Amino acid sequence: MAREEILNPEATEEEQTSVEHEVQLRPTTLDEFVGQLELKERLGIILEAARGRSQAADHLLFAGPPGLGKTTLAAIVAAELGSHLHVTSGPAIERAGDLASILTKLEAGDVLFIDEIHRLPRTVEEVLYPAMEDLQLDVMLGKGPAARSIRFDLEPFTLVGATTRTGLITGPLRDRFGFAFRLEYYDENDLERIVLRSAQVMGIDVDPSGAKEIACRSRGTPRLANRLLRRVRDYAQVRGSGMIDYEAAQDGLALFGVDALGLDKIDVLYLSNLCRNFNGGPAGLSTMAISVGEPTETVEDVIEPYLIQQGLLMRTPRGRVATAAAWQHLGLSAPTDSPAGAMLFEKAP
Ligand SMILES: Nc1ncnc2c1ncn2[C@@H]1O[C@H](COP(=O)(O)OP(=O)(O)OP(=O)(O)O)[C@@H](O)[C@H]1O
Ligand SMILES: [Mg+2]
Repeated sequence: MAREEILNPEATEEEQTSVEHEVQLRPTTLDEFVGQLELKERLGIILEAARGRSQAADHLLFAGPPGLGKTTLAAIVAAELGSHLHVTSGPAIERAGDLASILTKLEAGDVLFIDEIHRLPRTVEEVLYPAMEDLQLDVMLGKGPAARSIRFDLEPFTLVGATTRTGLITGPLRDRFGFAFRLEYYDENDLERIVLRSAQVMGIDVDPSGAKEIACRSRGTPRLANRLLRRVRDYAQVRGSGMIDYEAAQDGLALFGVDALGLDKIDVLYLSNLCRNFNGGPAGLSTMAISVGEPTETVEDVIEPYLIQQGLLMRTPRGRVATAAAWQHLGLSAPTDSPAGAMLFEKAP
């Protein structure tokens, strides 16, 4: 993928550097892509079959939390097919005409990546359906009684969609993808391999114990693993020998506010508000979002999944509830009138 296509000209210098690192760290072949074995096997077969037939591959959807590799996979699909990648995103396509001009530029076998595809306006989505299914593009010209529709034939292409929200993809859109892949959080071994690989790419000296420590605090997310690696590298360079060993990793991560479970300040604030201010819940999503000063979408997609996965939080019909492990992690004991406390109380003989 061309660098300019991913770099956002409006990003600050710090963001820009971080994006540049991300581009540099992206695996470019399926072989280099760490973990997600089931996904890799299925995707590998789809791509190899398409290559064998010299046809465009079926449309593919990648879903999963931020930072797990959806954009990376889109670029890998294009590279493995040996075809041209065009990148855009749901919010960037405002009108049907915008989509039409993108689609008519595609050449046979090209890959079109639409990031955040759940944010495509409905009117645009409807133009996409016949394009995906029949390689037909219907464009309305003019308005009112004089309006007429023109039909274009499109070259065979592969649409790759990415979404952090499968639930928000409409049924008709989802049905038009040949396969929908769900990315899972990575386990510690995979993250350790990612840290070691990134360290090698960036020329950072890290020993296995240091890599392991960074891996187990990365909340299952490669992007975070890479970011923590850079922070620990800074720490090791300034305060240590430059080499990242277990101690440097531990001290560096602590200094940058990442605790032993990989929770950062905002996660701890979330749990602490839930326990201290709302007695461990149940508390509603919007209440929790306001209490940590983040949009509900971020809370739901980024903060909560990891807390739930770590067994610190439950989503119940009545709201968010802190588990006994959450109270314990904060060094507090759950009062008997809190949900976690009541559960402990019930369990006691
Ligand atoms: N399986 C993997 N192996 C190695 N590196 C990975 C892997 N998955 C992701 N990465 C790294 O993590 C970073 C983030 O990945 P990517 O941008 O593809 O995530 P994303 O799912 O598109 O996130 P978002 O939803 O925020 O757009 C990339 O720099 C990439 O190098
Ligand atoms: Mg992405």
